Amino acid sequence: MRIYQADNIKELNRKAANLISAQMILKPDSVLGLATGASPIGVYKQLIDWYRKGDLDFAGIRTVNLDEYKGLGPEDPQSYHYYMQEQLFSAVNLRQENTYLPDGTQEDERTACEDYDALIRQLGGIDLQLLGIGRNGHIGFNEPGEAFIRNTHCVRLSESTIQANARFFASREDVPEYAYTMGIGDILQAKRVVLIAFGEEKARACYEAFTGPITPQLPASILQLHPNVSLVADRAALSLFAQGEYTL
Ligand code: GLP
Repeated sequence: MRIYQADNIKELNRKAANLISAQMILKPDSVLGLATGASPIGVYKQLIDWYRKGDLDFAGIRTVNLDEYKGLGPEDPQSYHYYMQEQLFSAVNLRQENTYLPDGTQEDERTACEDYDALIRQLGGIDLQLLGIGRNGHIGFNEPGEAFIRNTHCVRLSESTIQANARFFASREDVPEYAYTMGIGDILQAKRVVLIAFGEEKARACYEAFTGPITPQLPASILQLHPNVSLVADRAALSLFAQGEYTL
């Protein structure tokens, strides 16, 4: 694992966007695994900026997102489809038909999940997977549990995730209870993983994920087994590393 420490959020966004840009330049038809939530917003803004300056080209890029709320369609402002349009897709020259997210409107869980895994296979796998991390150590919507789940699956969101994500909804009751998410196997098969985290509330999850036991109770801990992981984080998110046995 490589840790990139940023002094502020602007620097964090640039460092993470640099890693993604390098991937896009080296392989213009890269498959990028994308994430939602608050963490990647600044990274996407930075990529858009470089695209506008003529430094980045999305024409051949394919994207697959980690997850989507079950029951929300693309036109729903709280859906991750909508988020991706707003935060990235509509601002760059990505071809719409090259962008993929799980289908939240698919009632049949098996179809939704099998189709998504088949799609990832068809694309030839993910070149670079961007990840945020939940306060409880979840990645995508892989919540703490008894076992790591390999493939795309339907998950019941934990109370902590519902509470954390309620800030994007009118009220807690509006947060869907279920979501479709790539599984741990889908994430681990990505050739490269870039995890971004900022703020004190991510410090415990980051520290335990990279220095603690590998356990499904903290899903991000499985990343210790991945050969090419970069953690891009600010000082607050890395504060426990500095104090612990792991020296930066
Ligand atoms: C959500 C998403 C995750 C994201 C996490 C952290 O539940 N499904 O992919 O990484 O929350 O979000 P944030 O960046 O807003 O803290």
